[in-house]
Amino acid sequence: MRLDKFLCDNHIGSRSEVKTLIKKGLITVNNQVAKDPGMNIDGSKDSVFYKGAPVQSEAIDSCVYALYKPTGYVCSKEEKDGIPVFELLPENIRESFSSIGRLDKDTTGLLLFTNDGELLHLLISPRRHVDKTYIVSCEKEITEEDCVKLSDGVNLGDGEVSLPAKCELNQANSKVISITIHEGKYHQIKRMMKATCNKVTALHRISFGNLSIESLSLKEKEGRFLNESEIELLKSSPERKV
Ligand code: URA
Repeated sequence: MRLDKFLCDNHIGSRSEVKTLIKKGLITVNNQVAKDPGMNIDGSKDSVFYKGAPVQSEAIDSCVYALYKPTGYVCSKEEKDGIPVFELLPENIRESFSSIGRLDKDTTGLLLFTNDGELLHLLISPRRHVDKTYIVSCEKEITEEDCVKLSDGVNLGDGEVSLPAKCELNQANSKVISITIHEGKYHQIKRMMKATCNKVTALHRISFGNLSIESLSLKEKEGRFLNESEIELLKSSPERKV
């Protein structure tokens, strides 16, 4: 099949748009920059990438995309409550990838996506969760006593109690705390802070399992595919049985 047709069929753009992308050197075929829109490719054998993203993502096992989520985007494919965060993903993976857990519309930080159902289950199954660390800014000062309560587990309402968490007060700002949780209950951090009569004003996830925004060198709104060793690192994140 012609390369430009293959790209159109995979929703990279219209025939003239993909020609421009090829001209700009943004398409590679088997790690070589493609120059000819009419070149012949075999979609089942050749690996075609657009800006570093595989064009036929479904055909690739265990693909993980990491995004530094900005505020204002919702973890949903529908536009009901805000702009879907999937709009920040390369167009060709929007349909086939799911987010690994969710972040609230006003939460920023590391959000992962995958097309690997097994990996998704491994990382967010309700019984086994990996560590997630948040930097939590609050309306009021957080006391040592609050920190102990949050570490031990607090009543989240509806009879739910949070599991022990790792909490560290920020020495420079008494309204900021870092919390590492091993579960992923709905609005968990906000409900934990509410249980100490406080309110979250900003929530930022710095890490998910063994991966962090810093180690992946992501800037706000930026995303990229993980390489094989990063995927292995993610898979080997310590799990807590919940
Ligand atoms: N806890 C929350 O309250 N919100 C998030 O987005 C993530 C964890």
